[in-house]
Amino acid sequence: MQIKCLGIESTAHTFGAGVVSFNGEDKFEILSSQKACYFEKEGIRPTLAAQHHTQKAPETIKVALKEADMKMTDIDIIAYSIGPGMTPCLIVGSTAAKILALKHKKPLVAVNHCVAHIDIAKEMTECKEAFVAVFVSGGNSQILSKTEGRYRIFGETQDIAVGNAIDKFARSVDLGFPGGPVVEKLAKDGKYIGLPYSVKGCDFSFAGIETQAERTLKTNRIEDVCYSMQEVMFSAICESAERVLGHLKLKTLVLCGGVARNKTLQEKLKIMTSERDAKVFCVPGEYAGDNGAMIAITGIKNYLKKINCFDKKDIRKTAVIPKIRIDQ
Ligand SMILES: Nc1ncnc2c1ncn2[C@@H]1O[C@H](COP(=O)(O)OP(=O)(O)O)[C@@H](O)[C@H]1O
Ligand SMILES: [Mg+2]
Repeated sequence: MQIKCLGIESTAHTFGAGVVSFNGEDKFEILSSQKACYFEKEGIRPTLAAQHHTQKAPETIKVALKEADMKMTDIDIIAYSIGPGMTPCLIVGSTAAKILALKHKKPLVAVNHCVAHIDIAKEMTECKEAFVAVFVSGGNSQILSKTEGRYRIFGETQDIAVGNAIDKFARSVDLGFPGGPVVEKLAKDGKYIGLPYSVKGCDFSFAGIETQAERTLKTNRIEDVCYSMQEVMFSAICESAERVLGHLKLKTLVLCGGVARNKTLQEKLKIMTSERDAKVFCVPGEYAGDNGAMIAITGIKNYLKKINCFDKKDIRKTAVIPKIRIDQ
């Protein structure tokens, strides 16, 4: 059965809308992906981000449909992010999706944002086998794998996510938001200075590294601090991913989330996997950060498995779950 889905993403800084078509067998095609991003120097203020999303939602959805060359009547299902995310932002996306579903009499599907990051990475690469996911973004840093039909977290940050640590550091030195691309650029001219490295089993921690990086700036070049931050944080992620691959006896990694754009991280994972006769699939850069197309892909998968689907009579039961975990 061919299915066309409109996906709506609004967990944090990005309001995204994307249209995806599923061929009924095994192929997902992204027909459009539009986004409007909210940036603020001081970091994200949830109510202001939600206001931004409310203003941008109608136009973003309209342009996504136009780019896909579709009208609402051509769409079969509508999907939205249930969480994790910031409550005011989540409510904007879920309300937009609910209004469209009711107005156009379409089924509504709730999607876990983290599953969607992994699904788009898998579907937009050649990954066909069981894998370990390295999910690294502004709000999450987790090493996961699917066992008995559901994702389990094998390793994760004990405090802040890697993207958040980089953004926080970048903000402290006025490098703007998001910090990831700027820090990556500066790191190219850096050399290693010591920073704390913290891996416990398959878990890791980044808050101490970020604090120390800010302190170290008084006596070191910013390029060296950026380089060293990347080195210790990405090595920790790499160490954990290697341990999980070994534990599960798997040979494939999937790298996803906004930080997956980072070439140094990609390179480290490539070296590690090649040394263990394994391989890594990296999500295409344009779909690494938050976007509506990933919500549409997982929306179609959920719909086919009848997970979190609502029709007109039970649509009022839909909610957002800001602190939902991927293993829930
Ligand atoms: N080239 C890069 N290197 C490292 N981090 C990056 C890069 N590009 C983007 N990021 C980071 O990705 C994060 C945003 O990813 P995204 O998946 O959209 O986040 P979230 O859903 O957690 O809000 C930000 O923390 C940003 O700094
Ligand atoms: Mg995200």
